Amino acid sequence: MANKSYNIAVLPGDGTGPEVVNEGVKVLKAAAAKYGFSLNFQTYDFGGDRYLRTGEVLPENAAEELKKHHAIFLGAIGHPDVKPGILEKGILLKLRFDLDQYINLRPVKLYPGVPTPLKDKGPEHIDYVVVRENSGDVYTGMGGTMMKGTPDEVAIQNMVYSRMQVERCLRYAFDYTRKRNKKKTLALCGKTNVLTYVFDLWERAFHEIGDKDYPDIKREYYHVDATCMWMVKNPEWFDVIVTANMFGDIITDLGAITQGGMGIAAGGNINPKGVSMFEPIGGSAPKYTGKNVINPLAAIACGGMMLEHLGEEAAAKAVEASIINVTSTKLKSLAAGQMGYSTTEVGDLVAKGI
Ligand code: IPM
Ligand code: MN
Repeated sequence: MANKSYNIAVLPGDGTGPEVVNEGVKVLKAAAAKYGFSLNFQTYDFGGDRYLRTGEVLPENAAEELKKHHAIFLGAIGHPDVKPGILEKGILLKLRFDLDQYINLRPVKLYPGVPTPLKDKGPEHIDYVVVRENSGDVYTGMGGTMMKGTPDEVAIQNMVYSRMQVERCLRYAFDYTRKRNKKKTLALCGKTNVLTYVFDLWERAFHEIGDKDYPDIKREYYHVDATCMWMVKNPEWFDVIVTANMFGDIITDLGAITQGGMGIAAGGNINPKGVSMFEPIGGSAPKYTGKNVINPLAAIACGGMMLEHLGEEAAAKAVEASIINVTSTKLKSLAAGQMGYSTTEVGDLVAKGI
């Protein structure tokens, strides 16, 4: 039988994106060689530099072009010379929407050897996954302004959810909790005491679907403010958390810092039936660009998530094991410039460990 072969679209993006993506690709190549599959990489230059050069944020056919691939591997989007919002909305959010990547999967896992700001907590306490809904909420852009620039200005940005959006996200989260097979507990994070329309919809759907199709999964509910508190005080309570887009954005930065910060936090924008895009949670870190000091482990971990998504589970596990070996025996710190190794050296260490 011929080796399996996957076409990967690579979007290095802005700032340190290209540097961390290079190390991710290096490790992916090592995993492919070891586990007997092949990866064909095709690079696209979407990002701030291209926008400043051409005036075009994203080519019109970008989504169609990217759909030809099995997965997308993205570095970072965000350029210091471009007004905030243009690239984020025009590239990142547009791709998430156009490719209907309705799940943003963000594991919060503290690896051995990585310092956490949470007192008395270790890898045995911090290991859960946030399933962030990725297509609705205030991210849809529905709303508007009136009398802009006057003292009477009004601005509205709506939290929008359809039953379909809520249901497909919840089903993904229940299935994921079942497959993960740890505490078999799914926690809904919402705000039913104030957002009495939107989270009423979420809560009803959560219990209806849970009762009907997932009797083996235990259900919990937390308000988003309390969720933040427990993520700090008792992170070991959590197995899988499912939440709406905006709350998910916020709590996953909190989660990321408890697992060692932006140098390590990985995520995937998932379309279970289409093409998914893997990206580190951190940004483009422009001040470190080109210095070979940024930590590439988040991007490398994204590569591991991508392999798992493609069905190369043994290779994915090897990537994670090699990352853990590097964090627990090599790195002095995860912070840029303080690792004791350069960006490329960290990539070499992980690749060699595969
Ligand atoms: C993230 C980012 C994005 C988001 C921004 C850059 C639009 O913060 O991926 O978490 O809000 O989703
Ligand atoms: Mn964010």
